[in-house]
Amino acid sequence: MTIKRVGVLGSGIMGSGIAEVAAKAGIEVILRSRKQATADAMVAGLDKSLTKQVDRGKLAEEERTAILGRVTATANLHDLHDCDLVVESVVEDLAVKKELFKELDLVVKDDAILATNTSTLPVIEMAVVTDRPDKVVGVHFFNPAPMMSLVEIVRPLTAADDTVAAVTEFATACGKDPVEVKDRAGFIVNALLFPYLNNAVRMLENGTATRDDIDTAMKGGCNFPMGPLALLDLVGLDTSLAILDALYDEFRDPNYAAVPALRRMVSAGQLGRKTGLSFYDYSKK
Ligand SMILES: NC(=O)c1ccc[n+]([C@@H]2O[C@H](COP(=O)([O-])OP(=O)(O)OC[C@H]3O[C@@H](n4cnc5c(N)ncnc54)[C@H](O)[C@@H]3O)[C@@H](O)[C@H]2O)c1
Repeated sequence: MTIKRVGVLGSGIMGSGIAEVAAKAGIEVILRSRKQATADAMVAGLDKSLTKQVDRGKLAEEERTAILGRVTATANLHDLHDCDLVVESVVEDLAVKKELFKELDLVVKDDAILATNTSTLPVIEMAVVTDRPDKVVGVHFFNPAPMMSLVEIVRPLTAADDTVAAVTEFATACGKDPVEVKDRAGFIVNALLFPYLNNAVRMLENGTATRDDIDTAMKGGCNFPMGPLALLDLVGLDTSLAILDALYDEFRDPNYAAVPALRRMVSAGQLGRKTGLSFYDYSKK
């Protein structure tokens, strides 16, 4: 199946990015948020981002109009009934995602594929609450989705080959480089990345080095584009904590046991760029 119409659920960092990527690839996008005002705000945000690209000479005005014309915002799940693929990108909470998959299964057409953008959660758990476990996969974009080239295609035990093939084709059509991975917590990237991020917080908590020196060291010493604490702020500390908890839950490896400081910052609502304050202060920028 070639994906011509895609539904995107969730109006956070990732939902917006995935919608932009798909619409730019010429695919029709139905963006669904729980509130119409939030869904409309996402489209306004997309318009702003595209207008900036036009101003910088990176996008033609006609392209901006065409991309926006492919995006519809809604609060009504039923508006996704005719989608070939739905990419769920709501909060990293398995109970919430399972509930949504149950609902989606009743709404979308019989041959539609349901995908999750989860960073770590078991895709099989979402597949088995539907009556189409063969048509459920993970499609894990990276942040920011319009810039990052990788997509992990996550294959739960129940996924059919043609489902995996269709979603791989979708990722390629979006200009991404897909890799296939088994349904294991953290897939490839986060399973390897999160012990490093967690240990950076531990190092800060221990007073081994300052925030700036930890980030400077990893940029200068490893040629990483940003340091681990800045990266945690970009990902979001709540999402990062949910990722570590899911990894620890699956593997019981102490490297995945979230450092207490991270948990406390999440309790304090210091979630990263999205709340303005975390390891860094974004409120003045
Ligand atoms: N942040 C990242 O770097 C990153 C990267 C790749 C994948 N992901 C994954 O993408 C998904 C979304 O993450 P994000 O960073 O965009 O999060 P976010 O916090 O920016 O957005 C979460 C969205 O979920 C919605 N939401 C919250 N509770 C809900 C509920 N009960 N029902 C329906 N919607 C609800 C919120 O309104 C919001 O639109 C998660 O599964 C996350 O693991 C995140």
